[in-house]
Amino acid sequence: MPSKRRLTVAVLFGGRSGEHEVSLRSALAVISAMDRQRYEAVPIAITRSGRWELCRDALSMLERAAPRLAGLGRAGIPVCLLPYPARGKLATVANGAVSLGRSSLGGAFPGRIDVAFVLVHGTYGEDGTLQGLLELSALPYVGAGVLGSAVGMDKDVQKRLLREAGIPVVPYRALTRDQHRRDSALCARHGAELGYPVYVKPNGLGSSIGVSRVASARGLGRAVAEAFRYDLKVLLEAACEGREIECAVLGNREPQASVPGEIVLGRGRAFYSYASKYLAPAGATTRIPAALTPRQTARVRELAVAAFRALELRGMARVDFLAAPDLSRLFVSEVNTIPGFTPISMYPKLWQASGLPLERLIDRLIQLALEEHRERAQRSFVYLGRNRPRAGSR
Ligand SMILES: Nc1ncnc2c1ncn2[C@@H]1O[C@H](COP(=O)(O)OP(=O)(O)O)[C@@H](O)[C@H]1O
Ligand SMILES: [Mg+2]
Repeated sequence: MPSKRRLTVAVLFGGRSGEHEVSLRSALAVISAMDRQRYEAVPIAITRSGRWELCRDALSMLERAAPRLAGLGRAGIPVCLLPYPARGKLATVANGAVSLGRSSLGGAFPGRIDVAFVLVHGTYGEDGTLQGLLELSALPYVGAGVLGSAVGMDKDVQKRLLREAGIPVVPYRALTRDQHRRDSALCARHGAELGYPVYVKPNGLGSSIGVSRVASARGLGRAVAEAFRYDLKVLLEAACEGREIECAVLGNREPQASVPGEIVLGRGRAFYSYASKYLAPAGATTRIPAALTPRQTARVRELAVAAFRALELRGMARVDFLAAPDLSRLFVSEVNTIPGFTPISMYPKLWQASGLPLERLIDRLIQLALEEHRERAQRSFVYLGRNRPRAGSR
């Protein structure tokens, strides 16, 4: 750490997506595990309607709300970040007026934020939009940048980049709402080409929302209509059923992979649905490390790092795989740039099993955020002339 002063870490959680409640559990776990000697946590709840509220008493509020997966009530002082470098200062919002700094709040208000730890999953948290605001306000933040976050939430663009890097992805077709309106039989042709069963899913969501397994052409229309409720683009994917392996990646330009883990579905569960993830505790369990040969383990880790690099990710990501039971087929399914940090979440558990407990994982992520920010701050945005030293070499 560069200084002895405690770093002020804004922990952003909640948010407008369907994963609001999961985010509360992640925030509770991260804030509880943060080393108080080194960090001062500044918890900022983003409500379902998108307001930012500084919580004075976040831990007890989260302890009440998180186990029941309840939403947040009014959490605290309305705050916001300004879209320009304001020395890490939060602005307060009162009666429609924005003012920078302490205003009338005195000591309860943090002087400045050193780094942001975003734990908002899905749309408006994980997709590059929030990262864009953090860039504009010149705050270092944990995790992927604008580009990596956006690509991480766009399954179609993500697969194209992975394929270009020689990383195996399942055969799939993308279908836009416009194409579907113009030619409603196109999806049936896609289905026939891919062969059934196919998985139909919205291009840009998470938590298995809108995902269907379609056994034959008969069920396709309904599944496509369901997925189009959530997005303007829908994917049809050939099925790769058998095993679901996950691997955690940590680092910036020299990323490291954890031991792989495995999702084991409960009996009678066709796939890792929203219900198996959050509603039915017995819907799925995890096996860490995954039951793989050393050679299979090495392959998974190598592909996880390759995917992280191909998608230009930073900080952290969980890379999910679909595989045949004997791993004769192994595909990168998707990446998650803000993985869950709940006590049962794979990302922290995989690092724990790899020798990095949560408290040290948090240290490392904050350090990586500061390093990345320093690297990026060295860029010049003005023309320096041909014969002058290049930006960064001064
Ligand atoms: N092509 C596929 N073959 C087999 N199972 C799939 C396929 N696509 C999705 N699934 C199942 O659906 C789940 C959710 O799909 P996924 O693409 O991971 O969406 P999300 O981003 O919502 O997590 C996966 O965990 C897996 O169980
Ligand atoms: Mg998934």
